[in-house]
Amino acid sequence: MINQFLYIMIIGVLKEPTGEQRVALLPAEIANLTKQNIEVFVEQHAGVLAFASNEEYEKAGAKLKSRDEILTVSDMVYCINKLDLSDIEKLKNNVILFGVFSPYDSIDYIKTLQKKGITTFSMDIVPRTTRAQSMDVLSSMATVSGYKAVLTAATELPHFFPMFMTAAGTITPAKVLILGAGVAGLQAISTARRLGAVVEAFDVRSAVKEEVMSLGAKFVEVEGAIDDKSAGGYAVEQTEEFKQKQREAIHNAAIKSDVVICTAQIPGRKAPVLLLNSTLSEMKKGSVVVDLAASSGGNCESTKNNETFIHEGIKIIGNSNFASTISSDASKMYGKNLMNFSKLILKDGTINLNFEDDIVVGTCVTHAGNITNERVKQLIN
Ligand code: NAI
Repeated sequence: MINQFLYIMIIGVLKEPTGEQRVALLPAEIANLTKQNIEVFVEQHAGVLAFASNEEYEKAGAKLKSRDEILTVSDMVYCINKLDLSDIEKLKNNVILFGVFSPYDSIDYIKTLQKKGITTFSMDIVPRTTRAQSMDVLSSMATVSGYKAVLTAATELPHFFPMFMTAAGTITPAKVLILGAGVAGLQAISTARRLGAVVEAFDVRSAVKEEVMSLGAKFVEVEGAIDDKSAGGYAVEQTEEFKQKQREAIHNAAIKSDVVICTAQIPGRKAPVLLLNSTLSEMKKGSVVVDLAASSGGNCESTKNNETFIHEGIKIIGNSNFASTISSDASKMYGKNLMNFSKLILKDGTINLNFEDDIVVGTCVTHAGNITNERVKQLIN
């Protein structure tokens, strides 16, 4: 157990890299920090793409500073995306850094943070427990992505989503298939239902069947899935026999669908390939596939990360960062998650890193020159 008490003077909020529209903290959260006698330094124009101006930050009590000044003087730094190595070089040795660092896929990066003596909290590995729900960045961003994936599909589809009975005839509702009914998938179901689509969903975890049905969707059942309770609610790798049955079930549902939203993931592994090219060939021309698992390989065999293209008449959209496109509310949710987490370690301007707290220890990756996360340690050895 490591316990440390430090006096926090300055918290820095950085501008995110090009292509990212969110900001780690909006002006509305600044007062939570300044009332603890903490100085908040915000990089010039950090919030501009999330519609938070420099003036709003200043009005909320923050001071606008250059990136270099923030990096060199801050005791705690809030960001979303990984910092460049040149930025890391400039940080104080014992700085506390918060962001989304995908530690299990970024071992060399984590070693750099370790060598610099940084205390790193990676908000994408907050434990999935009830007490940690208000800090769960993955859930927040999955909510945004599931919603936006369906809206994107609806605008790209050459059909309506709802049923219409018009003087020009009856329009039948769109059929939407959702692969993976975790946080993003469940949000996708409810958004598609609100737009009037007929929705089917598939997941290997039978526990989600009731949730899927309560949102008004049909659950596509495939018997024989391995549901490992020790995986903390996450999906685990399935047998070849199950995968074959699953591909058939998905094939049969997909060829009747107008839209497929892919959200199935297994933490730290390549995403399962569920929608094969042979299925795409039989889908209706003009159909749309939105693959939220694109950054980890995609659920659709043809997906290319960050690309949209037509494959045999089907539009395939590979995008794992829809959260950035709803920049204001996604920033609001991220910032709330950060503030709720910060409350665990920051009281009256003083830091208390209690490594007996399962959320603190579960989210920490490096501290005092050590790698603290067990899974990262295993991946190194
Ligand atoms: P995720 O993003 O890791 O995966 C999305 C979904 O894909 C999951 O439902 C998973 O079962 C499914 N999936 C994986 N492989 C599949 C396959 N081969 N075929 C079909 N579906 C497949 O999941 P997410 O949304 O991060 O949630 C994971 C778990 O964490 C869930 O049990 C969820 O209820 C739980 N959770 C708990 C929270 C808390 O208590 N604080 C907060 C959020 C989620």
